[in-house]
Amino acid sequence: MSGETKILLTILIFMQLSGTPFADQRQQCVPSSCGNIHNISYPFRLKSDPKHCGNENYELSCEGNRTIFTIFPHNWYGSLNYYVQAINYANSTIRLVDPGIRDQVICSLPQNSITFYTIPLGFNLIIRPHFVHLTVPITLFSCPFALNSPVFVEITNCLNKSYASNVSSDLFKGHTYATMAELSPSNLKVGCSVDLMSMTSWRIQDANANISILSLHNALAYGFEISWFRHVYCTKCPLE
Ligand SMILES: *[C@@H]1O[C@H](CO)[C@@H](O)[C@H](O)[C@H]1NC(C)=O
Ligand SMILES: *[C@@H]1O[C@H](CO)[C@@H](O)[C@H](O)[C@H]1NC(C)=O
Ligand SMILES: *[C@@H]1O[C@H](CO)[C@@H](O)[C@H](O)[C@H]1NC(C)=O
Ligand SMILES: *[C@@H]1O[C@H](CO)[C@@H](O)[C@H](O)[C@H]1NC(C)=O
Ligand SMILES: *[C@@H]1O[C@H](CO)[C@@H](O)[C@H](O)[C@H]1NC(C)=O
Ligand SMILES: *[C@@H]1O[C@H](CO)[C@@H](O)[C@H](O)[C@H]1NC(C)=O
Repeated sequence: MSGETKILLTILIFMQLSGTPFADQRQQCVPSSCGNIHNISYPFRLKSDPKHCGNENYELSCEGNRTIFTIFPHNWYGSLNYYVQAINYANSTIRLVDPGIRDQVICSLPQNSITFYTIPLGFNLIIRPHFVHLTVPITLFSCPFALNSPVFVEITNCLNKSYASNVSSDLFKGHTYATMAELSPSNLKVGCSVDLMSMTSWRIQDANANISILSLHNALAYGFEISWFRHVYCTKCPLE
């Protein structure tokens, strides 16, 4: 090898190395894709991505073209899987749908229980100024007697057809309802009990409006949005 070639090689190698400073590693991560989710990038990572890509607390998996987020809610008994419907980097939100909800099955019901208080670590709900939640609770509850209110929809007949064997408490003893209206355990009638809680970010004009099986299904199939912004980019921001 001539001296000139050696120098040239050294320069080439140096250029190669300095072209890839470690600080730029995030940029080197090509966004991954799974099914309909095409832009999986920081803070998210797919299980199959290189180790340095994304944040391990925001790891997604891909099974049969469905992007899955496994959450470990605090004070809970295990992990819960949710389908990822959308990731919006502009407003730092991820929209999740319960895997029990089938698009074509209007009577399908959630498998997992989740509430405002069991949101996974590293996420929060979006709260508008004046503390209006953009996300509303969905409550499934059973009573030994029939109720008659436009804000409750009876789903007793959905239970056997649904995939939600977790919603089974008073299955054949009474009537099971769903509501998107605010319902605290204290204003449930004696003998009624909550079976399962879920959430939706579907823009409901009025949570106290009449509910139907179809509007319940649309709300569940839209899913709920949670935000990673405060945890990843904004640890010291004031509450919005
Ligand atoms: C993908 O996400 C990155 C942020 O992580 C964003 O800068 C980029 O515009 C997004 N691309 C598309 C096609 O949405
Ligand atoms: C996933 O989608 C790709 C492209 O649309 C398709 O070729 C493949 O068969 C799908 N895989 C599964 C498991 O559905
Ligand atoms: C975030 O952006 C998506 C896509 O534009 C939109 O559908 C969603 O409503 C937005 N969420 C919030 C909380 O602004
Ligand atoms: C019931 O809930 C548990 C915990 O969320 C879950 O692991 C299980 O798969 C659910 N069962 C059904 C049939 O959905
Ligand atoms: C569902 O209904 C079928 C027949 O209608 C019945 O045989 C079965 O036991 C029911 N399953 C449950 C979990 O109630
Ligand atoms: C809601 O339901 C009640 C009773 O079922 C009915 O009288 C009323 O017109 C309904 N309101 C709307 C906005 O649909």
